[in-house]
Amino acid sequence: MAEPVLRVSGLEVRYGRLPALAGIDLELDRGEAVGLLGANGAGKTTLLNALSGFLKPHAGRIEFLGRPIAGTAPHAVVRQGLLQVSQERDLFGELTVLDNLQLGSLARAPQNAARNMERVFGYFPRLRERSVQKAATMSGGEQQMLAIGRALMAEPRVLLLDEPSAGLSPLFVDEIGAMMRALKSEGEISIILVEQNIRLAARVVDRFHVLRAGAAVAQGVAADLEGDHGELARNFYL
Ligand SMILES: Nc1ncnc2c1ncn2[C@@H]1O[C@H](COP(=O)(O)OP(=O)(O)OP(=O)(O)O)[C@@H](O)[C@H]1O
Ligand SMILES: [Mg+2]
Repeated sequence: MAEPVLRVSGLEVRYGRLPALAGIDLELDRGEAVGLLGANGAGKTTLLNALSGFLKPHAGRIEFLGRPIAGTAPHAVVRQGLLQVSQERDLFGELTVLDNLQLGSLARAPQNAARNMERVFGYFPRLRERSVQKAATMSGGEQQMLAIGRALMAEPRVLLLDEPSAGLSPLFVDEIGAMMRALKSEGEISIILVEQNIRLAARVVDRFHVLRAGAAVAQGVAADLEGDHGELARNFYL
């Protein structure tokens, strides 16, 4: 068996004295997509922020490509190929689409910027049409596409996506779902997808974990997410 790309064990995070993650274990293989489900406040974003270095774990291990990275600064984690698209998207609003994409390639793979930009435009043709528009004036869905595109400019090995469908119309949700499926079928990038939209998660992930109050309380495979979501929602979100 090949080593997992990402291996998390016994991860604990606290905000002051308040526990936010209480011993999370997680593995992610090359080309695999794993979902993180759970109610508001369950700790999903906290887990992503700990993986990408924005939060220092209180205990536990994070191994990325076989190297321990827990407590490593965010810019160094990015340089190693672990990229997060945050819930806030964090775009440079006064800069154009092109500039935002260019900045994404600075940390990693600047020499491949032109090629990677074509690849991003292939996923999201709308970004090419709007390449000289300021990011701040784009719609919510377009900004989400740009944030994902900017992360792809850095040739991630692991992509952390925090509720990419939040606030988007069905058409944009479809486009982003299709893009994640395409990425997955290419098999190079591993994905951790935080999603409230179970239908979208079912299209993308191989497996999922459910977080509740900072603990992983259930897990399953994609097929468990299909069909009637009523029971799933009752079990996982209440
Ligand atoms: N900076 C912080 N300081 C103190 N508590 C925090 C901080 N950030 C998050 N928390 C708390 O940690 C818990 C988990 O928050 P987190 O943002 O990880 O949840 P989430 O699962 O991403 O929720 P959502 O679906 O609403 O985005 C919540 O109770 C939240 O109030
Ligand atoms: Mg969150």
